Amino acid sequence: MKAIEIRNKYLKFFEKNNHKIIPSASLIPENDPSVLFNTAGMQPLVPYLLGEKHPEGSRLTDYQKCVRTNDIDEVGDNRHLTYFEMLGNWSLGDYFKEESIAMSYKFLTEELGIPNEKLSVTCFKGDEDCSKDTVAYECWRKAGIPDERIYFFGKSENWWIAGEEGPCGPDTEMFYDTGKTKCSPECNPSCDCGKYVEIWNNVFMEFYKDKNGYTKLKQQNVDTGLGLERMTMLLQGKETPFEIEIFAPVMEELERLQKVDNIQSRRIVTEHLRSSMMIINDGGRPSNVDRGYILRRLLRRMTRHMNKLEIDLSELGNIIDISINSLKELYPELEKNKEIIKQVIIEEKDKFIKTLKNGEKEFEKVASKVKNNGKIIDAQSVFNLYETYGFPPEMTEELAKENGLKVDMENYQKLFEEHQAKSRMGSEAKFKGGLASTGEMETKYHTATHLLNAALKVVLGDHVHQKGSNITEERLRFDFSHPAKMTDEEKQKVEDLVNEYIKQDIKVEKLEMKKDEALKLGAEAMFLEKYGEEVTIYKIGDVSLEFCGGPHVENTGVLGKFKIKKEEASSAGVRRIKAILE
Ligand code: ALA
Repeated sequence: MKAIEIRNKYLKFFEKNNHKIIPSASLIPENDPSVLFNTAGMQPLVPYLLGEKHPEGSRLTDYQKCVRTNDIDEVGDNRHLTYFEMLGNWSLGDYFKEESIAMSYKFLTEELGIPNEKLSVTCFKGDEDCSKDTVAYECWRKAGIPDERIYFFGKSENWWIAGEEGPCGPDTEMFYDTGKTKCSPECNPSCDCGKYVEIWNNVFMEFYKDKNGYTKLKQQNVDTGLGLERMTMLLQGKETPFEIEIFAPVMEELERLQKVDNIQSRRIVTEHLRSSMMIINDGGRPSNVDRGYILRRLLRRMTRHMNKLEIDLSELGNIIDISINSLKELYPELEKNKEIIKQVIIEEKDKFIKTLKNGEKEFEKVASKVKNNGKIIDAQSVFNLYETYGFPPEMTEELAKENGLKVDMENYQKLFEEHQAKSRMGSEAKFKGGLASTGEMETKYHTATHLLNAALKVVLGDHVHQKGSNITEERLRFDFSHPAKMTDEEKQKVEDLVNEYIKQDIKVEKLEMKKDEALKLGAEAMFLEKYGEEVTIYKIGDVSLEFCGGPHVENTGVLGKFKIKKEEASSAGVRRIKAILE
C-alpha cells in the first residue's frame, strides 16, 4: 500500500465514524512564538483541547505536517526523520477511551489488514498523579489483544505532553511486531532494538500540567498520532523509510550519481531535502535565527553530504525535480511552488559553497594543531571559525567527530552569548547615533518588562508565562499566556503594582550561575533550551527572577511612571499588553 492510500483510508475511515476532515495547518505555527515548527497534530488544536468550541465540531481528523529537530544529528541512521506526516483523530470532550481504542483496533486490523498477532500495546501503569489505566486495558482485552501482549509502563513511556506545560495525559501505544527475535528475554515494546515498532499513540488528555503540577481539564479529550512514513514502511515490509516510494527514487538517483558510496550520506541528502522543501513551501527562508537557522542547517548539511558522495552540485535542480515528483501526490503544492523552492535551495547552496571552501581549510589547520595534542578543539577556535569564516559550530562538531576529535561546545556557547549581548548593546548604541553608550529607554523597558511579568502573575495567577516580548524606544509589548480578556480592574491592579515596585526603588542584580542552580531557585525562562550551562539571571528583590541577557537599569526607581496603553488578544490563549513609561 502506498503512503497516499494509507492517508486516504485513514481520513475516510474517521469520516465514516462521524469525524470532520480538517486541513493540515502550516508547518510554521501562526500565533505561537514558543515553538519553531508544528511538531504534532494536536499543536494547532490546543485552544480546543482546553475547551474552546471548534467550528467543525467535537470529532476531527487530519494529516498534519510536522518537523521535529531535536534529532537532526540522528538522521542518516535507518529510522530518524526531521519531517514526517502525522495522521490524527481527535475527540474534543466527545468520545473517550472505549470508542477510541475500538476504532484504532478496527482501522489497523480491518482497513490496513494487520493481523491481531502482530500487535502489542502498552498502557499507563499509574502513579501519584494518575491511577493505573485499567479502562484502556479492558478495552484492549475486549478488542481481542491477549494479556501477554498488553504491557504497563510509567510516565516515561505512557504519558504524553508537548514540552513542559500544556494539556496532557496517559496514553496507550500500539506496536507492530516485525517478527525479529527478541534481543533479550526481557525485550518488550519499550525496547528499541527494532523488534517492536511504535505505530500509533492515543493520548487521553484530561489533565493540564504547569509548574505547580497537574489539574483536571474541563473536558476529556482524545489526541492520536500515527506516523505515515513508518506505517507505510511496515506495510510494505521495508526495513527503513528510505525504501518507500516517497524517498526511493531520490535514493536511487543519488546512488547513480555518487562517486563515493555512503548510505548515511544518501539518507541525509534525501531526508533533509524533503524537510527543506516542505519548510520553504510553507514560507520558511534560510536565516541565522530560529526556524530560518534550522532550515539553513538542513540545507547546509545536505550540501555537505552531497560533497561527501562527490556528486556534482549542479545536479541539485534535477534531484529536486525527482523529489517533488515522488511527493506530489501527497503534496500537490510542491509542484505548484517548484520554482521558488528550487531558487531558495540553490541560492543557499551557492552561498554555502563559498563558506565551506574557506571554512574547511581553516578547520584543517585547527584540527592538525590538536590532533596530537589533546584532541579537543577549544571554544575560541570554534567561535573564530563561525565569526570569521561563517562556518557553523555544529559543522565543526560533526567534522571533528569524523576526525576523532572533540569540541569544547560548552564554553563555545558561553562565548557566543557574551558576544551576542555585546553586539546587541552595540547596535542599540548605533541606533542612538552614538549619543549614549546603550539605549537608555530600551534598557528601562527591559526592566519594566520583568516587573510587568511579575505583577501579572500576582494579579492573574501562576499560569502567566511570557510568550513574546518586543521593545522599542517608545514602548514595551509583552505577550503572555492567559485565557481571558483582562478586566479594567485587573489592568488597574497590574499597573498599580508595577508602579509600587518602581516606587520601592528595588536593586536590580545580575547573577551568573549554572543553569541547574538557576532553575532550582525558580528562575523563569522563555526558551530554556536557548541557554548554555552557564547562565545570567536578573534578580529584582523578591519580585522577579528571570533568565535574561539584559541590559537592565540598576534600581527600579529610575523607571518613571508605568502605564498600560492596550490589552488585547494575541492568539488563542495568549494576551498582549502594550505599555509605556512616562
Ligand atoms: N500528540 C501525540 C503524539 O505526538 C499523539 O504522539
